[in-house]
Amino acid sequence: MAATDLERFSNAEPEPRSLSLGGHVGFDSLPDQLVSKSVTQGFSFNILCVGETGIGKSTLMNTLFNTTFETEEASHHEECVRLRPQTYDLQESNVQLKLTIVDAVGFGDQINKDERPIVDYIDAQFENYLQEELKIRRSLFDYHDTRIHVCLYFITPTGHSLKSLDLVTMKKLDSKVNIIPIIAKADTISKSELHKFKIKIMGELVSNGVQIYQFPTDDEAVAEINAVMNAHLPFAVVGSTEEVKVGNKLVRARQYPWGVVQVENENHCDFVKLREMLIRVNMEDLREQTHSRHYELYRRCKLEEMGFQDSDGDSQPFSLQETYEAKRKEFLSELQRKEEEMRQMFVNKVKETELELKEKERELHEKFEHLKRLHQEEKRKVEEKRRELEEETNAFNRRKAAVEALQSQALHATSQQPLKKDKDKKKCIHLDGSKTFTLASVS
Ligand code: GTP
Ligand code: MG
Repeated sequence: MAATDLERFSNAEPEPRSLSLGGHVGFDSLPDQLVSKSVTQGFSFNILCVGETGIGKSTLMNTLFNTTFETEEASHHEECVRLRPQTYDLQESNVQLKLTIVDAVGFGDQINKDERPIVDYIDAQFENYLQEELKIRRSLFDYHDTRIHVCLYFITPTGHSLKSLDLVTMKKLDSKVNIIPIIAKADTISKSELHKFKIKIMGELVSNGVQIYQFPTDDEAVAEINAVMNAHLPFAVVGSTEEVKVGNKLVRARQYPWGVVQVENENHCDFVKLREMLIRVNMEDLREQTHSRHYELYRRCKLEEMGFQDSDGDSQPFSLQETYEAKRKEFLSELQRKEEEMRQMFVNKVKETELELKEKERELHEKFEHLKRLHQEEKRKVEEKRRELEEETNAFNRRKAAVEALQSQALHATSQQPLKKDKDKKKCIHLDGSKTFTLASVS
């Protein structure tokens, strides 16, 4: 349908007229129908517990819902913060509640001072919901909504001030989730210290611009109690599932050598206030705020990031198809640009490698020439030595031949004059005197 047709139809819409009914029709049962439908459908509620290891998160959850959830103690040596969700089906009267408790395991311990895993977890639940909404065949009716409805932020009862980790984390979370700060293990801090601590915490939250959840005051039925409770924040709570006899009643309490701290005694701690505000009065508001405020913000940012826009005043009405086409074109040209960029990078890389290879080849060639020269030089020297040796051998052979020739001449001459030789022999014997050998025996 063209934009102008849309405009024509919307402009032609007539003003509704008020009419009175002649008698009972029955649509006044709509609220009851709604309640009945919701009850049949059941509810889901998701609580995120953030606080250092051993601060009393599991105990408080057990105390709040008056049951024993599966708990697994966290070690103080977790390598990083991990989110552990556990879902339970609870029933009270005819109301079904799918309760998910998410523990930020390891938070605040060792070097686990990073709130990012918590933020990522919250975003991931929003993203899952958004993906379901954007499906062509969506089934939000029976979708298990895991979006976090409330974050109970457990503050350590130091009596000093908030840790910077607490401030940073709460600041990062406040636009994504309803935060209710609570002072844990409030029985470990004195009454006057607790009073000062509460004032200090609220002052620090305000001066650091941290937005915590405010119990709504727009519904007359609960405006008064919510306004009073807002002034009590942060709630100082004590958790315990242990039952102690006080008077003739069994109450949940923590027993000490000097006395008993009763969990549900408003003079002892704010546990009842927390339960009243969180479960009995504002559970639906927390669910609604999560959807209409936090999820809406996430959805808006996500869709804007994807290029979708609402029309404003005089601009053209928003068209999903046009936006999609524009985005598609943008995406394709971006893809082309990236492809071209990568191709260019590849060509440059090849050129670079080619140059490097050429340079290496030249170096190798030079090395080869150098070695060749050295080899030739060596060869020439060896050749020279060989020649010298040959000359020496020839000279030696010549001398040897001459000696042999002389020897044979001498022998020849000797055989021609035997008598003379005998005479010489005798002469030798005479000269020698005492010895009786001959020259012939010597040779
Ligand atoms: P991890 O899940 O291991 O991080 O611990 P957690 O925060 O769930 O604490 P958990 O409830 O397991 O409690 C740890 C210890 O603190 C237990 O010994 C509890 O009995 C004790 N504890 C819990 N709540 C309170 C409280 O309100 N006051 C005091 N004094 N001790 C508490
Ligand atoms: Mg625990």
